[in-house]
Amino acid sequence: MSLHTAPDECSYPNAPNTLKNGASSLDTALRELKRRGEHRQFAILERDANTPPSAAFYGLVEATHAKSPQITLSKDVKIWCSNDYLGMSRNPKVKAAMIAAIEESGVGAGGTRNISGTSIHHVALELSLAKLYQKEAAAIFTSGYNANAATLGVLGRLLPNCIIFSDALNHASMIAGIKRSGAQTKIWRHNDVEHLAQLLKEAPPDTAKLIAMESVYSMDGDIGPLEKVCDLADAHNAYLYVDEVHAVGLYGDHGGGITEQLGLTDRIDVIEGTLGKAYGVMGGYISASRTIVDAVRSFAPEYIFTTALSPALAAGALASVTQLANSNEERHLHRKNVNRLKEELIIRGLAFMDGPSHIVPVIIGDPNRCVVAAQKLLEDFNIYVQPIVYPTVPRGTERLRLTPSPFHNEQSILDLCDALEHVLKSL
Ligand SMILES: Cc1ncc(COP(=O)(O)O)c(C=O)c1O
Repeated sequence: MSLHTAPDECSYPNAPNTLKNGASSLDTALRELKRRGEHRQFAILERDANTPPSAAFYGLVEATHAKSPQITLSKDVKIWCSNDYLGMSRNPKVKAAMIAAIEESGVGAGGTRNISGTSIHHVALELSLAKLYQKEAAAIFTSGYNANAATLGVLGRLLPNCIIFSDALNHASMIAGIKRSGAQTKIWRHNDVEHLAQLLKEAPPDTAKLIAMESVYSMDGDIGPLEKVCDLADAHNAYLYVDEVHAVGLYGDHGGGITEQLGLTDRIDVIEGTLGKAYGVMGGYISASRTIVDAVRSFAPEYIFTTALSPALAAGALASVTQLANSNEERHLHRKNVNRLKEELIIRGLAFMDGPSHIVPVIIGDPNRCVVAAQKLLEDFNIYVQPIVYPTVPRGTERLRLTPSPFHNEQSILDLCDALEHVLKSL
């Protein structure tokens, strides 16, 4: 597909009525965002499943307008910032499972999980995710965001006088759940176990406690001190909740994540993950005890009051989880390219945050320069890396976040480094 047009019969309403109360404040907020270089740009891409990581780039959403809906092909680019870390979105087994499920069941679930929307595909996936972590049960959601918001929202509300101890860099979806739960919250400095220990010690011994953290932090690529936090959770009789969104599929012999790699799965009460990144599909999940899963299923609005994930997505995700539980090949190729990219950056003296994970952040430190760097990569070198600005990362740490995949090759790594060298110098 190279040309998209809106249907002829579309009728276009007038421009938003700026006389409505408060309308000018939207313009003001957007102007201010643009002035700070923090206005979000959305690239229009059509990824090519046959030649990853290639895609057709059609410009920015901001440049489109419903009154002149023609979007023409701009150019072919190489994507260097996808969270489809292992390319599972185009894996033949995953695609075949989804096509078969669509042929059998149609495309939509047809209801909420509670009202006719639970299919055999959903349940098979949940059983497989419970097995992956050797837990009693699992529940899937329409996104990892919803899994976090739902589970932390319910646990913080139902556990009596619960205090949630939340790492300072936890994801927005965890913060949303924690806030909505109404539980008292203590923020511990990022990855600082001594600070966490001190906060736990100060809390009343008989109150319910829940520690919430991530394994791989998505923007810095560092890894949480899981072993030490497990010890603290045991010592203070606290629940431990770990977001493994950027680790599932990628770490551990069966793709269970960092908790599997470190042999800690049975010490963690709730493991949360996504089906939309390394698993390449869409949706989120938790794996935990039957009681926790039942409580979340029973009390979380994100589980009850929304149409269930498409059965085809569940079938595709199951194929992906199964593949990555039985094969290390994808993880091996991925790691090889991650290491090779880091090596080449070091050889050329290009600075990046060299953490233990697969995420390679190149800090630019200014929003406007970050946007210009990304523009130059795209315009001059056909390389697409989305600039990452506040509030995704703190101000002053704006960055290009590079994510190698198994499909980047030696030449594409060299091309990226050539381009980065040129662009960073020109800044
Ligand atoms: C740490 C973390 N948790 C949760 C999510 C949400 O996952 P999903 O994209 O499946 O909604 C993200 C998304 O980027 C994330 O980075």
